[in-house]
Amino acid sequence: MSQRQYSQLDKFLIEFDAGLAAMFDKSGSPQRSNPANNESAEGLNPAETRISQGLMRVNHAGEVSAQALYQGQSLTARSKSVQESMQQSALEEVDHLNWCKDRLDELGSHTSYLNPLWFSGSFTIGAAAGLAGDKWSLGFVAETEHQVVVHLESHLQKLPERDEKSRAILEQMKKDEAHHASVAIDSGAAELPTAIKKVMTLCSRIMTSTAYWI
Ligand SMILES: [Fe+2]
Ligand SMILES: [Fe+2]
Repeated sequence: MSQRQYSQLDKFLIEFDAGLAAMFDKSGSPQRSNPANNESAEGLNPAETRISQGLMRVNHAGEVSAQALYQGQSLTARSKSVQESMQQSALEEVDHLNWCKDRLDELGSHTSYLNPLWFSGSFTIGAAAGLAGDKWSLGFVAETEHQVVVHLESHLQKLPERDEKSRAILEQMKKDEAHHASVAIDSGAAELPTAIKKVMTLCSRIMTSTAYWI
């Protein structure tokens, strides 16, 4: 059977459509059940609820960015084997996005109003990294995932103690993100220059401090 050949424009439109779904919360179906389902809902007081809402909004925004990063990466990846090795990570990011959205719904709060900004910024950076070559785009994925693990560790500290549901989600995400970094490294990631890592840290600080509130 002949396989359809997609032009770069076709691919761009497919990825952009997936991006719109991510921004407007109708992302593809999760592969795994939400780890929060195994935890009983403990009543949070209003102050604790506000903290959990802010933290989970930041995590959802981070997952919107992850969708963009992986889509930008797959659009520009030159080697088929690189594309394929990143596919499972991209699918797990869909799980994360859905889990964070479910938890935000349960906490009675909204996703970040700036999601289109986080998506387009990350998509552009992901695609630009891909244009620089697979080893750099994989390096960018690996560094992003490392930074996300550090960020998740800080959120696990900040979460209200009784919010076991959010904690279960973040614990699983932390394991997955560390694995995604390893996959990128095993696929041939280059170590990014320190200056670029610093800029990435600064960008993620701007995102996390803004998405907490809006
Ligand atoms: Fe993720
Ligand atoms: Fe990840």
